Amino acid sequence: IVSKREYHEKVLDHYSRPRNVGSMNKADQDVGTGLVGAPACGDVMKLQIRVDEITGKISDVKFKTFGCGSAIASSSYLTELVRGMSLEDAGRIKNTEIAKELCLPPVKLHCSMLAEDAIKSAIKDYKSKRVGKPTLGVTA
Ligand code: FES
Ligand code: FES
Repeated sequence: IVSKREYHEKVLDHYSRPRNVGSMNKADQDVGTGLVGAPACGDVMKLQIRVDEITGKISDVKFKTFGCGSAIASSSYLTELVRGMSLEDAGRIKNTEIAKELCLPPVKLHCSMLAEDAIKSAIKDYKSKRVGKPTLGVTA
């Protein structure tokens, strides 16, 4: 049970109706998986992106978070934010943007950091699969 005094209403909205919860097959060549943990509390977040190989943009995104309300809200909000973005733009998202949108208090900043780490890690995983493959957006 989440107390309303502790969490801003935007957090409660994402927490009670999280967007894009789920999993993709991490073996898929167009999927990047990020799995990160917060040393401060032990919470864990898995974030997966599917990348359109023609446009190089994120076509789908799913998450599973085992963590507090702020971590769930941060990942839910992040999934809405990155859909349709280029990997470059998605990789530039800062946790402070997420924290600002959700009005997270300072003590909950590390929860939004988990979301920043997760998208960076998913992008890195996707790129590692592309090594030696044709560049995105280029047709032979
Ligand atoms: Fe992880 Fe807050 S310590 S839920
Ligand atoms: Fe640790 Fe929120 S308290 S992720």
